[in-house]
Amino acid sequence: MTLRPDDETTGTWLGAAVAAPSIHNTQPWHFNVHDGGIDVRVDPARRLRVIDRDHRSMLLSVGACVFNLRLAIALDGRLPVLRPFPADGLTVARVEPGRPGRPGPGLQMLGTALFRRHTNRGPFARAVVPARILDELRAAAAAEGAELTALDRVRRDALLALMATADAAQRRDPAYRRELATWTAADPYRLDGIPAELIGPRDEEGRLPLRDFGLVSARPDRPAGRFEPHPQLVVLSSRADNRAARVRAGQAMQRVLLTATVRGLSAQPMTQVLEIPRLRRAIADPADPWFPQMILRIGYGMPVPGSPRRDWSEMTTV
Ligand SMILES: Cc1cc2nc3c(=O)[nH]c(=O)nc-3n(C[C@H](O)[C@H](O)[C@H](O)COP(=O)(O)O)c2cc1C
Repeated sequence: MTLRPDDETTGTWLGAAVAAPSIHNTQPWHFNVHDGGIDVRVDPARRLRVIDRDHRSMLLSVGACVFNLRLAIALDGRLPVLRPFPADGLTVARVEPGRPGRPGPGLQMLGTALFRRHTNRGPFARAVVPARILDELRAAAAAEGAELTALDRVRRDALLALMATADAAQRRDPAYRRELATWTAADPYRLDGIPAELIGPRDEEGRLPLRDFGLVSARPDRPAGRFEPHPQLVVLSSRADNRAARVRAGQAMQRVLLTATVRGLSAQPMTQVLEIPRLRRAIADPADPWFPQMILRIGYGMPVPGSPRRDWSEMTTV
């Protein structure tokens, strides 16, 4: 199959790819279309040097983008062929449209969520997420080689305490604040970063250690919200922690997020505790070699608008 960067098919696929979530909405990806396939690369200029020293969040973000690309190709009636690039270059994976094949109902459902999935930083209802839906999220992670654990009350409270430690440490760090300022600067024309209307309300009771995107860019009119008293947290982990494992974990994260969206759930990544190596190590169970890659708060929230994206054509070469 001949793919050209200016044809409609390529545009549909790459439009879906860039709808993926990314740390601080940095969109740290780049595409090279050649020889009938698409090389997905990281864009190192968009890496967060303070909170992402080991490139983990960038690789997770690009992994989510790879999942969307695979899904878009499948929805177009071609079996996607994924060729991971574990070596240490800019390319993390190559995705090619393989032989024709109809997507099953599961993939078609995920497809309906591609452009409806948005990070939700608002309060969620005081409703329990049913066990069968948690099972579905677990299966979504497992389908991409990851493990998803829904935390019980004891483990959740222990994790929330570590998250509060992480939040306090980052708030105090001038380098963290400078980096956050770069990605939250108010500019209505900007197509990346976190716009003012999406930073979410303050936690009225100050119990949930959510990342405060209003920390440096003052928002005097920012409302307060009453957050759920017993948040449901899930932790996504992988068996290895190298570059390829992180890209895979990003694909698993996106499959979980799209599955959650299909089931009417909202989700917010809460990753500050994973950005401080000693705290990330404290979460991992030394007796069980799983590496935590993503923490999500999930629940039933009010709809939120999507965040901006740069056009795929801006980051595509041949
Ligand atoms: C690795 C990673 C870490 C993230 N960490 C947080 C976080 O700590 N708090 C938060 O509110 N959102 C977090 N996000 C969500 C991003 O800010 C969000 O994906 C981005 O702004 C794009 O918005 P969208 O998800 O609505 O498309 C994270 C996303 C990724 C991929």
